[in-house]
Amino acid sequence: MYPLELEKVQKTFGGVRAVDDLSLAVAEGETFGFLGTNGAGKTTTIKILLGLTPSDSGRVAIFGKDPRDAHTRRKIGYMPETAYYYPFLKAGELLAFYGRLCGMNKSEIKRRTEELLVDVGLVNVAGKQLKTFSKGMLQRVGIAQALLHDPDLLILDEPFTGLDPLAKIHFRDLILNLKHQGKTVFFSSHELSEAELICDRVAILKEGRCVYDGLTTEIVGDGKLNLERIFLRVLEKEGDTAENGNGGAL
Ligand SMILES: Nc1ncnc2c1ncn2[C@@H]1O[C@H](COP(=O)(O)OP(=O)(O)OP(=O)(O)O)[C@@H](O)[C@H]1O
Ligand SMILES: [Mg+2]
Repeated sequence: MYPLELEKVQKTFGGVRAVDDLSLAVAEGETFGFLGTNGAGKTTTIKILLGLTPSDSGRVAIFGKDPRDAHTRRKIGYMPETAYYYPFLKAGELLAFYGRLCGMNKSEIKRRTEELLVDVGLVNVAGKQLKTFSKGMLQRVGIAQALLHDPDLLILDEPFTGLDPLAKIHFRDLILNLKHQGKTVFFSSHELSEAELICDRVAILKEGRCVYDGLTTEIVGDGKLNLERIFLRVLEKEGDTAENGNGGAL
């Protein structure tokens, strides 16, 4: 049983095919990078995976079950692309609120909140209202919220966006630590170098279709073919970067 599975999923918005016959399976303990240009269909796929957006057709399973099942949901930590938090809450209060929603008890919420505020580097601003937070600070809150209930599967929509270089390094270590704990991590990203460093496997999406799915060990195999070049090559082959004049010889 896979923690995360999509089979022949389709989703169209008006005339736009956002997800096109997409099949993917992520193995337990795998760190999986979901890549693609703007509008490729990453967020739509993630929302379908979580049962937040219905697909037109195809099958989605989280640990073999419907993602809308309450028990299944508890196993997922989700960080949205754009989060809208109640601005007058403090970071600790927000985490406590999410903890209660997840059915965590008081002492567990307290312990996890204290741990996570340190892990995401917000301990010094824990007493400040979220309306005073910068973009990157809110991003850190989102990371903490996704990890709060110690889920087995993390689904993160562009977790690196808005983080400063130091925070990126910390967050990379955080993901690697989750990996060592046996957690499954699925995240979308534009940060190819980060994906290359931490992912076991990446998929590249173009116009809703998976145009590449491979192990990162294979990608960096000969030392020359890094993920950036793979990304360019795959999209070029699909007639994208060549048309835009961005493509170069490998
Ligand atoms: N609610 C919606 N209504 C209409 N079209 C939508 C809707 N959501 C997404 N789309 C369209 O579906 C396509 C895929 O969008 P999606 O947000 O999934 O892309 P993405 O890969 O997450 O892009 P980005 O990297 O910019 O976040 C785009 O063409 C987008 O305009
Ligand atoms: Mg998106």
